[in-house]
Amino acid sequence: MQFALPPRQLSTSHPPYIPSTRLSLLRRRQLKAIAVFGLALLTIFYLLSYFSFSRDSPADVTPAGTPNVVIVTLFDREGLSDSHIQMITKNREYYAMKHGYTNFFANTSDYLYAFGSDIPYSWALIPAVRHAMATHPYSTYFFHLNPHALIMNPDISVTSHVLDRKRIESLMLKDIPVVPPDSVIKTFSHVKGNDVEFILSQDKEDLTSDNFFIKQGDWAHFLLDAWFDPLYRSYGFAKAEKHALDHIVQWHPTILTKMALFPQRVFNAYSKDSPGAVVNGTYQDGDFIIRFSRCQTYDNRDCEQEMQPFYKSWQKSHRQN
Ligand SMILES: *[C@@H]1O[C@H](CO)[C@@H](O)[C@H](O)[C@H]1NC(C)=O
Ligand SMILES: *[C@@H]1O[C@H](CO)[C@@H](O)[C@H](O)[C@H]1NC(C)=O
Repeated sequence: MQFALPPRQLSTSHPPYIPSTRLSLLRRRQLKAIAVFGLALLTIFYLLSYFSFSRDSPADVTPAGTPNVVIVTLFDREGLSDSHIQMITKNREYYAMKHGYTNFFANTSDYLYAFGSDIPYSWALIPAVRHAMATHPYSTYFFHLNPHALIMNPDISVTSHVLDRKRIESLMLKDIPVVPPDSVIKTFSHVKGNDVEFILSQDKEDLTSDNFFIKQGDWAHFLLDAWFDPLYRSYGFAKAEKHALDHIVQWHPTILTKMALFPQRVFNAYSKDSPGAVVNGTYQDGDFIIRFSRCQTYDNRDCEQEMQPFYKSWQKSHRQN
């Protein structure tokens, strides 16, 4: 506040010829100026802190045009051909554009710093979803979609096909073993659609974390952190992050109370060559998504070749080029 007080030198060595009453008037003016200035500063600080605090509750200030749904696709560029990546990218971009969603594409290699290279790369999906949430803090739903899955029926919107409260309540599988075929822990039968923040499906062998929906918020952050726990990563589960999820889902009722299991075909139908589909879990014409499950783990299978005819048929019915 130096500028508000007259420099000392001026008043001592060159005393201005100002009568004392005028001097005090001047002082009062200066004090008033300081007070006004101080008030302005306080107001600015208040406004700044108000806006930075309210960022914690995105619902209050969601910017116009924020996509409600973010599709998260993680590419392992060492295991996928460029043409495969291009097909998947086009397929997702068309779908997102049609419904006003947005895509979050990431590379597995971006997340390897987060864990040792001696651990299966499939773990990267967890930091990728977290990264997508940080990048789109105002978006509500994150749809992790496996890079071996094609959206075959882009007319289907996930908000009405999956995320709608009534839809959740009518589709969720109640009181079935969480981990197939016969885990002792079963899905709850009293979960309300509004409480669900995590939607996934099972195939005949596992909970499948390849395609799932998660709602942004504290609970999602907790789930992703628990799932990515260093102890689990280094434990050496046979199916890496899949088995870690099996584990936390069975041991933490806090997760089961917000989780819904959907019939496989709703968003995870398997191609006829993919092993392990449940009854009614195999892709049929008109289904939302086809997934070429484990196509990269068998010598006699070729993901890209299996995907081609479906890609072509999608292209024919939904794209001009
Ligand atoms: C992923 O890798 C490709 C090829 O290296 C690169 O062109 C692309 O920008 C990367 N994507 C992201 C999100 O980093
Ligand atoms: C399979 O689908 C058919 C027709 O949609 C249905 O009638 C049948 O109950 C389903 N079976 C199972 C086990 O879900």
